[in-house]
Amino acid sequence: MTELIKVGLLGLGTVGGGTVNVLQRNSAEISRRTGQSIQVVAAAVREINADRICDTNLFELTDDPVSIVDNPEIDVVIESMGGTELAFDLVMRAIANGKHIITANKALIAVRGNEIVKAAVEANVMLAFEAAVAGGISVVKVLREGLAGNQIKSIVGIINGTGNYILTAMGDEQRDFAGVLAEAQALGYAEADPSFDVDGVDAAHKLTILASLSFGMPLHFERVYTEGIGEITLTDIQMADEFGYRIKHLGIARHTETGVELRVHPTLVPKTHLLANVNGVMNAVYIDADAAGSTLLYGAGAGAEPTASSIVADLIDVARHKQSGLINVPILGFQNDQIDDLQVIAQSEFASAYFLRMEATDQPGVLAEISSIFAGLDVSIEAITQKEPPAGVNTAAISLITQFTDEAKVLKAIGKLESLSQVSGAVKLIRIEHF
Ligand code: HSE
Repeated sequence: MTELIKVGLLGLGTVGGGTVNVLQRNSAEISRRTGQSIQVVAAAVREINADRICDTNLFELTDDPVSIVDNPEIDVVIESMGGTELAFDLVMRAIANGKHIITANKALIAVRGNEIVKAAVEANVMLAFEAAVAGGISVVKVLREGLAGNQIKSIVGIINGTGNYILTAMGDEQRDFAGVLAEAQALGYAEADPSFDVDGVDAAHKLTILASLSFGMPLHFERVYTEGIGEITLTDIQMADEFGYRIKHLGIARHTETGVELRVHPTLVPKTHLLANVNGVMNAVYIDADAAGSTLLYGAGAGAEPTASSIVADLIDVARHKQSGLINVPILGFQNDQIDDLQVIAQSEFASAYFLRMEATDQPGVLAEISSIFAGLDVSIEAITQKEPPAGVNTAAISLITQFTDEAKVLKAIGKLESLSQVSGAVKLIRIEHF
């Protein structure tokens, strides 16, 4: 028997509007897949008369979001309003009212997800957030279902399109950070306040979710080590290129013998690796799993229709669930009583290969001093270059790459390098990922 699933929207901007469009355009195909009809009955917006990307004639518009979460007719609430305060209160109230929740809000899940998951489990409602990570890429479903037979070893992603656009344009067009950022803002890729993208906060939100789904751990946004791309210069990109690498802003979650690494930072990636060739605003997630081996998911990380694609997929899950009456897939992909609060590894315990760059006086013995610092700490230098200084300049740019080693040793080396009278300014450190 065909059932009608009634949907209420919290937010009708790019994501909510895109969802309405996809639901309307593909309604026949969605009914073929679910045996049911999905109908948007109401949407809560901040401004009733604002311009919309979708047709609003078929449902009610309200500026009272509580009327959506309290509406007894509504089965599913889609939250795409953003933020972690009002959105949290509304989602919790909707759950208490027995509604299934679909959200595109990565900050909400990363920061307050543990409370929301608990409430959803207790209320026996679905909580789905495919759209919260990497837009149209179905990485949540892949981790929760497709790779459910695996032990996930690591997950490495380019999960912020704005940052990837900036780094790609800097490298391709040999431009500096500030100029490309201004262009990204003008094109509407970067927000007027681009800090969430550029500082790595947006990527850290997404990484938090990916780590929980990969390893069955609680959502620990506050434990993600996060560095942005604001300090990356064109010279860094050029020197990395000479060593055979591109700089990408990666989110890395890795299960090691001592715990879980959760880190977001600019990273040198070998030019031959697939992730080094993910350019512009595109996103990609590279998963290393014990049985499946390496899997790369690539696609649009944002935008109205890619994000709507993920929301509608979650809606279809809700519709199928309503048919069977069973919630078969746990919210984080592991049984709720099996979520394990794994140790998150501190920066002092990181290990990697490293790219270091410094300015040093061009005089005999400087390279010997530098290499003796590394030798004294038992850190092996893999490659080193010194650029001939321009005429009239007495400092030379020295770049080097270490072998895989402990970060604590490299930080100690940097301290010693910076105290050398021949080294001027700070020593730049960028980690290298060899996969
Ligand atoms: N600001 C995000 C990005 C978009 O640039 O990837 C959606 O998360």
